[in-house]
Amino acid sequence: MEILKKYQQLVLDNLQSYPAYTPEVKSLYEPAHYALEGGKKIRPILVLMAAEAFGTDSHQALPAALAIETFHNFTLVHDDVMDRSPIRRSRQTVYKKWNTNQAVLTGDAMLLLAFRHLYLLEQDLIPGALDLLTWVGLRVSEGQQLDMEFESRTDITEKEYLTMIELKTAVLLGTALRMGAFVAHAKKDDQKLIYNFGRLLGLAFQIQDDYLDLYADQDVFGKKIGNDIATNKKTYLLIKALELADASTRDTLLSLYTTETTDMEGKIQIVSDIYNRLGIKELTERKITEIYSRAKQALMDIADLGGHWRRVFSDFADYLMKRQK
Ligand code: IPE
Ligand code: IPE
Ligand code: MG
Ligand code: MG
Ligand code: MG
Repeated sequence: MEILKKYQQLVLDNLQSYPAYTPEVKSLYEPAHYALEGGKKIRPILVLMAAEAFGTDSHQALPAALAIETFHNFTLVHDDVMDRSPIRRSRQTVYKKWNTNQAVLTGDAMLLLAFRHLYLLEQDLIPGALDLLTWVGLRVSEGQQLDMEFESRTDITEKEYLTMIELKTAVLLGTALRMGAFVAHAKKDDQKLIYNFGRLLGLAFQIQDDYLDLYADQDVFGKKIGNDIATNKKTYLLIKALELADASTRDTLLSLYTTETTDMEGKIQIVSDIYNRLGIKELTERKITEIYSRAKQALMDIADLGGHWRRVFSDFADYLMKRQK
């Protein structure tokens, strides 16, 4: 998609524009600079697309797009500490390259930098944009709280899982689109409808992230394969496996997920073999496709969105559905 490259470039050209207040303390900002490099930049692209779709030049929406991407990268810096993730975007994570305290502090600074971007919006848009970012920030924190608590539980239902991923991931994709529509002064109803499209995209996106965590090529995905199994994450794959397993397989899984091990590769192999026997890979692929289709269906509800933009968003959903990273 050509349009993606254009927006991605616009974001990359402007994302690092945050002068330090005190130049002598640039060590606070260096890890932020590092964390903001690379990545797909899908959330700011969604902000810019929605703004244009509802009739505003993408440059007008740029501060909102930069705020959303800076916020997203802040969550990743802290998420990697919480998830003990050693690599992201094919490089060391911030807490590995520096240390945990640095990741905490620079993450805090990035959250504030995200808000600072919003002050560059047109004056009358600032209160509403602050409201959206605050709202989404707290929802993502709620999702991360659940994700963390689920690590030590083995009775998570699909419903609880869906609530957790809606909060940690889907609300941000939805809000990215809503933010763009808001900046373009779109009607409240249209803002809600495009949010819902993004929310569905986000649900599919996170289940796909769970899937790729085991089935991607590590060099392409850029994150450590099997990390969700290593950290006892209650992913879509595991929940389905626990649901479908016979009693003895279930016991094996429960024991693997409740006892510490020094043989992590062994654990990942056993879980992966169980998934193979239960057809979890195919089942998850079907679920991902189904939710992406529901997302595309939701586009039809947005009557004010012209045929051209409906196609652009639909193509975007297809682009995400095919992603390998
Ligand atoms: C990673 O998001 C976190 C999830 C919500 C799964 P992305 O897959 O968008 O990460 P980058 O920004 O492209 O690296
Ligand atoms: C992403 O969940 C949620 C947030 C970062 C808010 P993951 O923990 O699965 O994301 P990755 O796989 O580390 O990118
Ligand atoms: Mg996480
Ligand atoms: Mg993680
Ligand atoms: Mg993940």
